[in-house]
Amino acid sequence: STARLFFDPRLAIGPVNRRVFGSFVEHLGRAVYDGIYEPGHPSADERGFRTDVMELVTELGVSAVRYPGGNFVSGFRWEDSVGPRDERPTRLDLAWHSTESNEIGLHEFASWLESVGSELMLAVNLGTRGTLEALDLLEYSNRESGSALADRRIANGRTEAFDVRMWCLGNEMDGPWQLGHRSADDYGKLAAQTARAMRMFDPALEVVVCGSSSRHMPTFGEWERVVLSHSYDDVDYISCHAYYEEKNGDLGSFLASAVDMDAFIESVVATIDHVKAVKGSDHVVNISFDEWNVWYNDRFENVDKITGAQNWPVAPRLLEDSYSVADAVVVGNLLISLLKRADRVTSASLAQLVNVIAPIMTEPGGIAWRQTTFFPFALTSALAAGSALATRVESDSYDTETYGRVPVVDAATTFDEATGRTSVFVVNRSQSETVSLAFDLTGLGAVTDARAQTLTDDDAYAANTLADPERVAMCPNDTLVLADAAGSIDLPPVSWTVITL
Ligand code: AHR
Repeated sequence: STARLFFDPRLAIGPVNRRVFGSFVEHLGRAVYDGIYEPGHPSADERGFRTDVMELVTELGVSAVRYPGGNFVSGFRWEDSVGPRDERPTRLDLAWHSTESNEIGLHEFASWLESVGSELMLAVNLGTRGTLEALDLLEYSNRESGSALADRRIANGRTEAFDVRMWCLGNEMDGPWQLGHRSADDYGKLAAQTARAMRMFDPALEVVVCGSSSRHMPTFGEWERVVLSHSYDDVDYISCHAYYEEKNGDLGSFLASAVDMDAFIESVVATIDHVKAVKGSDHVVNISFDEWNVWYNDRFENVDKITGAQNWPVAPRLLEDSYSVADAVVVGNLLISLLKRADRVTSASLAQLVNVIAPIMTEPGGIAWRQTTFFPFALTSALAAGSALATRVESDSYDTETYGRVPVVDAATTFDEATGRTSVFVVNRSQSETVSLAFDLTGLGAVTDARAQTLTDDDAYAANTLADPERVAMCPNDTLVLADAAGSIDLPPVSWTVITL
């Protein structure tokens, strides 16, 4: 089939914020222990961090990392994770039914982030703790010196403040699974009070209030309205979380997952702006899409879940999804959704980073490798820069069980004035047909260096595994043709493509 794409560098919708290429490391499974940290590994540095993993994280291009949870944070006492290591308590993590040694904590993780060049985004525990403990962590992290907690940080070996700018007010407080789960009203009041208190320390902090854990939560929409009615002027972001998976062999619906993300973003923007209007506020709240990915959650719920009052494993293999080409196409499409609303989605975190629903996998004592989902993230992070452009796609559509009729092709474009580069990110959701995509280059000036790369495979379920870690990779797409002021390219079935002009 054929499709047409329209974009123009003069029609920008908003700057692409680097924070959209954030990720997430939770104390969960083998994300930290036997993931980023494995002291006995041949590649480990003097701190015990795997340098092969650090290299992959750097290549992935992760701008900021949310830490230390996730559900974990709602039972976490931050003080356990600082100070002399041999004095740190071993704790039970109720969220993942695991043992937490606290060998890695705030200092170690911040030091790791400095090595990979990413910013720290901290979540505070508003599940089982409150405003005072959040303030304590803030003072410990951000006060330079001359107060009890700042001086404790210095005594623990860190002279400069961590100066954390982004703070999440708890995690998924709308979820009944969350330790300390609350009503929107109760949470909204606690979040507003905590945000105001934290801003008495530093009004320039960027604060994220919890939105919904999914667009399909029974409280979705009303949760955002009520929480923001309490906290609107005290926060900068409301979070969105979304995970997608293929269900019952319905690949067509799964490939259209971004349709759900688009609707999620539009509804939350509308709700934010409704509260803004009601309050007559000038303040702008944006979205922090701080958990998103493909996650085969059914597998976790029904097979891997750990139970038993005496059974608390250390760094168990949890949520270790192996990702296929189709999964990577969906991840690439979810990034397109984020870029299409770059004006309002100004922070996001791929959940997660290493081993746990992750683009990077490791084997203890062995290799680290790139999952299929690594590629669209790394390339979008590297090539989406400057401004997101208004982008229109005309393509065929197809019927899905879950989302009704959806377009076969979806795309986003960015234009970077500094380099003159235009990047086009595009998916073909068809399972059988190649799409011949045409676009015109009006407004771009002379294009001298055009390239395209595509992620696809004859087998949509092909994956990179420990046994075959380089089975799937990006390939140059040589069907790209430019002539006069127009271009065309073939997009194979179930594919994600990036074109740079
Ligand atoms: O990323 C895995 C889990 O998903 C997080 O801990 C939680 O916030 C979400 O439900």
